[in-house]
Amino acid sequence: MSWEEIYKSRLVSAKEAVSKIKSNDRIIIAHATGEPLDIVDALVENRENYENVEIVHMVAMGKGEYAKPGMEKHFRHNSLFVGATTRDAVNSGRGDFTPCYFYEIPDLFRKGYLPLDVAIIQVSEPDKYGYCSFGISNDYTKPAAENAKLVIAEVNKNMPRTLGDSFIHVSDIDYMVKVSHPLIELKPSKLGEVEKSIGRYCASLIDDGSTLQLGIGAIPDAVLMFLKDKKDLGIHSEMVSDGVVDLVNAGVINNSKKTLHPGKMVITFLMGTKKLYDFADNNPVIASYPVDYVNDPRVIMKNYKMVSINSCVQVDLMGQICSESIGLKQISGVGGQVDFIRGANMAEDGKAIIAIPSTAAKGKVSRIVSIIDPGAAVTTSRCDADYVVTEYGIAHLKGKTLRDRARALINIAHPDFRESLMKEFEKRFNSK
Ligand code: COA
Repeated sequence: MSWEEIYKSRLVSAKEAVSKIKSNDRIIIAHATGEPLDIVDALVENRENYENVEIVHMVAMGKGEYAKPGMEKHFRHNSLFVGATTRDAVNSGRGDFTPCYFYEIPDLFRKGYLPLDVAIIQVSEPDKYGYCSFGISNDYTKPAAENAKLVIAEVNKNMPRTLGDSFIHVSDIDYMVKVSHPLIELKPSKLGEVEKSIGRYCASLIDDGSTLQLGIGAIPDAVLMFLKDKKDLGIHSEMVSDGVVDLVNAGVINNSKKTLHPGKMVITFLMGTKKLYDFADNNPVIASYPVDYVNDPRVIMKNYKMVSINSCVQVDLMGQICSESIGLKQISGVGGQVDFIRGANMAEDGKAIIAIPSTAAKGKVSRIVSIIDPGAAVTTSRCDADYVVTEYGIAHLKGKTLRDRARALINIAHPDFRESLMKEFEKRFNSK
């Protein structure tokens, strides 16, 4: 059969596709902006036909209906990174959380720790050879499709065709549903003075010719804002957002000095608006690979002057970094933070930056604390911690004693909290 015949013979409605899923199956849903929205809606609508279907998902950006109260009989959510729509399920006991490094997730499927019955994915329309691209979500989505017993895909004409190792042939998909809904978008953040100050300090740590990893949100956006005068920057990042497009167009990001994949912007997923997705479509500058390649610290370290920029919830005076929980409450996940901090630390002339506003909860609490909240998970250990940046400056922790780390961190804490932190310091180190 030609690929065209295979394609036609496997096209079904979303309703028919989800009828192939059985009670007790473990399903994985494509990550973040790649969520196949129509199939997930159909799955929830069909709930009376399922019992105990486990839904594994990382950043869930759709409606998250399957994790709502009342769904327990039909679905149980297993989160690899808690988000706004799944936080309540995980923290109230209706769902579960699995701690994991992002780069190791494909191995969970392959090595049988988390065998998959069904992968629900979203891909681009097939090209003239019958290959669909994973577009804006390659990460764990491609490895999931390669390891699940059943693969159900939305084929979306709005999904860009990203290049790299980002393709699946129609013959490897069991059922396909044609859709035309817009892709999930994340609008650029509003930047206040605090973010701008953090952005300025981070930019001061970035030399010309560096390769960057940037996380999600206001701080990475602010960093990009202060990079306009830099030269020859490169990208090796699990994700990028809209801000990167302007710097590519301005010639600041040209990937020319990269020691791994020179000339290419290496990513594993995209999270932005249509502006970013249009930019990515068929763009030879973009090289999209699965997350077990992009986020592997042994790969990241091959980038000379690799700089990673991530954020956290709390950092204690020893430099232990909590990024995913407030006390016992799980608010997000490990994601690629440790992958990139380790990779950047191992890279020649690399820097691993944790960038945070000095306070949270509208200024009521300090993010720099003497002792982390009981029950909180340490995401990045004090041995991995390198730079911490707030709107008040830069603390370089690597190679410093506990006492010197504490001093450096107190210096960049919000002035309202410095005195109480100093008192804790004096008690702990028996010195002024
Ligand atoms: N005490 C109490 N509340 C706190 C707090 C603290 N120390 N730190 C944060 N919070 C609250 C904030 O006030 C905010 O509350 P709100 O939603 O009611 O406004 C909420 O927690 C989220 O914090 P915020 O810092 O605004 O979130 P963010 O969107 O900037 O994300 C992380 C910050 C740390 C949660 C996020 O970067 C993350 O999950 N990191 C780990 C994974 C990672 O780094 N991956 C790699 C990059 S993709």
